[in-house]
Amino acid sequence: MKDYVIRQERPEDYGTVENLVRESFWNVYRPGCSEHYVIHMLRDDPAFVKELDLVMEKDGVIIGQNMFMRTVIDSDDGNVIDVLTMGPICIAPALKRRGYGKALLDYSIEKAAGLGYGAVLFEGNIRFYGKSGFTYASEFGIRYHGLPEEADASFFLCRELIPGYLDGITGVYQTPHGYYVSDEDVERFDSGFPTKEKLRLPGQIF
Ligand SMILES: CC(C)(COP(=O)(O)OP(=O)(O)OC[C@H]1O[C@@H](n2cnc3c(N)ncnc32)[C@H](O)[C@@H]1OP(=O)(O)O)[C@@H](O)C(=O)NCCC(=O)NCCS
Repeated sequence: MKDYVIRQERPEDYGTVENLVRESFWNVYRPGCSEHYVIHMLRDDPAFVKELDLVMEKDGVIIGQNMFMRTVIDSDDGNVIDVLTMGPICIAPALKRRGYGKALLDYSIEKAAGLGYGAVLFEGNIRFYGKSGFTYASEFGIRYHGLPEEADASFFLCRELIPGYLDGITGVYQTPHGYYVSDEDVERFDSGFPTKEKLRLPGQIF
């Protein structure tokens, strides 16, 4: 039975959502995390898609969030193809692996498709996103900016929202600048949150 609602994020949610993101990403990809600061900055970015700034609520408590940004593929024939990128997406640590992430992802993607966007590309784990129709971007002939051709690009995923949107297109995907933040800015922002221990753990990628 569906025991959650998904709705647009409101300004009064910002602090709660930033703390949720911090709790969910903490020590997962690196000691500590930067994603709570990233979302703090993305919301004011001109490429941010307000209609797709979503939170998931269960029993009146926010347990998940997802957001999207507009970006482009610079195609090899000189055209610029409008696409979306996604994330961060997260679910509260205590509620992971119960299907909430997939439900939020599927809802978000359906909403993005309904708004007329053609494709979504981002960095992620195929074991989660593959269940929601994502595949390797290389299968669409899309390359990740700055990545040498021989490098492993299996982290770079894509899903068309309009079937055939990327037909006949090869090119380079650009990560929006808003996702790049400095360690110093993250540290400064993080100091406004409750103290948490940064740990170096197996499986971290940074
Ligand atoms: C990634 C995340 C959003 C997934 O949400 P979730 O609610 O835990 O995922 P779901 O329960 O809906 O998972 C659906 C399926 O995806 C796969 N999956 C999900 N997380 C996975 C993981 N970490 N490793 C491998 N497979 C995973 C599983 O097959 C899962 O089904 P199963 O539990 O029956 O095996 C959540 O774990 C999270 O917030 N992680 C920390 C932040 C993060 O990494 N965000 C993504 C950045 S790209």
